[in-house]
This record gives sequence, structure tokens and C-alpha cells, in this order.
Amino acid sequence: MTGHGEHVMNGATIWLTGLPSAGKTTIAHALAGRLRGEGHRVEVLDGDEIREFLSAELGFSRADRDTNVQRIGFVAQLLAAHGVKVLVPVIAPYADSREAVRKRHQEQGTGYVEVHVATPVDVCSVRDVKGLYAKQAAGEIAGLTGVDDPYEEPADPDLRIRAHEQSVDESAAALHALLSERGLA
Ligand SMILES: Nc1ncnc2c1ncn2[C@@H]1O[C@H](COP(=O)(O)OP(=O)(O)O)[C@@H](O)[C@H]1O
Ligand SMILES: [Mg+2]
Repeated sequence: MTGHGEHVMNGATIWLTGLPSAGKTTIAHALAGRLRGEGHRVEVLDGDEIREFLSAELGFSRADRDTNVQRIGFVAQLLAAHGVKVLVPVIAPYADSREAVRKRHQEQGTGYVEVHVATPVDVCSVRDVKGLYAKQAAGEIAGLTGVDDPYEEPADPDLRIRAHEQSVDESAAALHALLSERGLA
């Protein structure tokens, strides 16, 4: 098998953590397109879809957010162990919870990359893709991550993307370069 083929077979989870509207989903899909073009098997486990099917009964308390993240981490690791590049654009606000997912991957010998999509809250709240920041400001919802609910920034992510200062393509390229460095793309 060629070196390229081995990389294609090598599964990994790439978790994109960050505030709502930071660009996690957008960057994940840009990367997914690149990876698919190279022959990788790719799955995107997006927070909203996952909640609908895997975590419909869960809310947004700390305990429920943690449970949601552990479930997604469990599924991601299973897929990654079978050679899939699993892209996970999910907020995952708590450091302990993210560390538990990393540990599960390490214990199973599965590749894991943590990416902090580090768009500042003032930029996110202007983008406001789902109108959540406006709803929070209007008092229609509470517990919005980064506003009136915690977001624990990763202290030492594998990559920090300043998504407000570079294009989606540049972010996807930076992430792809990291995967290449690690023998994952
Ligand atoms: N440089 C950039 N990187 C990522 N997203 C950007 C950028 N500039 C503008 N955007 C826009 O910001 C929004 C981010 O939304 P989304 O990816 O759904 O965020 P998240 O999944 O983090 O909630 C999208 O509408 C995207 O087009
Ligand atoms: Mg998203």
C-alpha cells in the first residue's frame, strides 16, 4: 500500500470546540470536502443533528451537556477506530468533559485532535447564525454558552483557529496541514 493509502485508512476524531456561531460547522464541512476529495471516509457529527437522534431527552444543564459530549465522543471513537475521519463541530464547553473524550481515544489508540475555533463572542453574536444571541439578549432564552453559561477555553488545543481573522478555506487548510503533519491526511 502507498503512504497515501495508509493515511486514508487511518481514522481519527477531529473535535472543533468553540462558541455558537464561531464557525465550527462551516470549517468542518470545508475540511470534510477536502478529505473526501482525497479518498478519506468522512463523517461529520454535528451537535444539532446528534441531539435530535442521540440526545433528544437532554437539555443544556452541565450534566446534560456532559452526557451529550460523552455520547458523541463514544460514537466518534468507534467510527474513527474503523478508519473514518470523524469531524465533530460541537461546542463542548467543559474542559473535563473534553479531556474525558481525549482520554477514551488515547486508551483505545485512536487519533484525536482538538481544535479551538476561537472566534470572540462579539463577532459570534453579530454572526448569530441561529438567532440565539438575539434571543438571549431579549430574555427569550437563558444559558447561552459564552454569554450566560460557561465556556472553558481549551488551554492547550492541538490547533487554535482565529476564524475571525482568516477565511474558511484558510482555516480548513491549516487544519488539513496539521492532519498531514500527524500522518492523518
Ligand atoms: N472566516 C470565517 N470562518 C468561519 N465562518 C465564517 C467566517 N466568516 C464568516 N463566517 C460565517 O459564520 C457563520 C458560522 O456559523 P457556523 O459554522 O454554523 O458556526 P457554529 O457551528 O460554530 O455554530 C457561517 O454563517 C459562516 O459562513
Ligand atoms: Mg454548528
